Amino acid sequence: MNPLRSLAVAAVIVGCLAPLGAQSADIQKLLADIKAKDTGLLAVSEEDGRFLRLMVATRGAKHALEIGGASGYSAIWIGMALRDTGGRLVTIEYDPIRAKELAANIRRAGLSDIVQVVAGDAFKQIPLLPGTFDFVFLDAWKRDYKRFLDIVYPRLDKGGLFLAHNVVNKRSEMGDFLDAVQKNPSLWTAIVSPSGEGMSVSLKR
Ligand SMILES: C[S@@+](CC[C@H](N)C(=O)[O-])C[C@H]1O[C@@H](n2cnc3c(N)ncnc32)[C@H](O)[C@@H]1O
Repeated sequence: MNPLRSLAVAAVIVGCLAPLGAQSADIQKLLADIKAKDTGLLAVSEEDGRFLRLMVATRGAKHALEIGGASGYSAIWIGMALRDTGGRLVTIEYDPIRAKELAANIRRAGLSDIVQVVAGDAFKQIPLLPGTFDFVFLDAWKRDYKRFLDIVYPRLDKGGLFLAHNVVNKRSEMGDFLDAVQKNPSLWTAIVSPSGEGMSVSLKR
């Protein structure tokens, strides 16, 4: 196995087993608080959060976009990796109450310099954002996935990653999206399932 791959595999294994680290006790508490208040079960699982952090770090992402930020659980995992890569995240959430919680949780996580919270409909907000993206995490309503892919794909860098959540447990709601990412010859796509909900990971070639 090549050394980079061994490192990534080791990081998955260690990342799944290890705590966040003593220096991150505050973030651990914050993540647990967000989960405890998440009565609608919107947030990704802890395993999926760890996987997102790993993907951002492995890609060395600098320009990340999240569609569907909810209260910030996944944005915090992504933001932790961006602190190391020197990157930035824009996370978009259209429910005004959740968007406020999201902004407050990003502040509590000490990630305000890394994560920009945009309140509003991502279909309207994405065209207003500048530049391209090298990492995209899609976790909005599942029937919208194909439309989001269509608007983001032209702005995904070559070598960029496009990840989408719930592609296993809600695959019946996104057949058009799954067809598109699996049949596009310019994308290499794998479906992984760190905790059963499933994520598609697509690399733009
Ligand atoms: C499953 S939750 C996201 C959970 C979040 N990624 C996490 O792990 O903490 C989906 C969120 O997407 C938001 N959403 C759905 N459609 C949206 C849109 N068009 N623009 C912005 N946010 C949207 C919903 O309001 C909801 O909060």
